[in-house]
Amino acid sequence: MSFVVRRAQQRDAAALPAIERSAAELFRTDPTLAWLADTDVASAAQHRQAIDHGHVWVAENASAQLAGFIRALDFNNLLHIEELSVSLAFQGQGLGRQLVLAAIEHARLQHMHAVTLTTFRDVPWNAPFYERMGFVVAAADGLEAHLSEALQKEVEHGFAAERRCAMRLPLD
Ligand SMILES: CC(C)(COP(=O)(O)OP(=O)(O)OC[C@H]1O[C@@H](n2cnc3c(N)ncnc32)[C@H](O)[C@@H]1OP(=O)(O)O)[C@@H](O)C(=O)NCCC(=O)NCCS
Repeated sequence: MSFVVRRAQQRDAAALPAIERSAAELFRTDPTLAWLADTDVASAAQHRQAIDHGHVWVAENASAQLAGFIRALDFNNLLHIEELSVSLAFQGQGLGRQLVLAAIEHARLQHMHAVTLTTFRDVPWNAPFYERMGFVVAAADGLEAHLSEALQKEVEHGFAAERRCAMRLPLD
């Protein structure tokens, strides 16, 4: 099936919580992370705000069905990916990679310094995937404030600190 990746519009917001919930089902394959599949996801209202004030791209098929999204925010000329989700039924077809590429292309066109994110070091579809796309694990000292704050919030949320890392894709 063919998909396009495009900027999200307000009318897309309602579909995004179900996509994030479905995407997280993948974590049930790791007993130590299965609980993530039962945690809260961003609401449609939060997505509406992000669509207006941040950057959201969606992957849509020929039947106008949304299969995935990526949400990013600007921090001092860095584009930070806050969330990437592809519905379980559509995973493994390259949509995650296409969504990340859309964010990278935007950052390049805006002459931003880097694309950043936080993720699991040891989950196959997390850090190893981003490394294959050129992201590099950032040293814990000297992290930009938005990255150390994101890691801190994740620990408060119950993530094991040693399993999380920040990553950067330098664009300069
Ligand atoms: C991460 C995610 C968005 C990737 O979506 P996707 O559409 O399956 O992505 P792709 O098909 O482009 O695959 C991306 C890479 O992950 C790997 N991958 C995907 N699913 C995988 C799985 N179940 N097991 C191992 N590797 C997997 C692929 O091999 C691919 O690597 P490559 O492009 O270098 O070959 C999806 O797995 C997801 O929604 N996961 C749950 C939420 C999550 O972890 N989000 C990221 C938070 S940082």
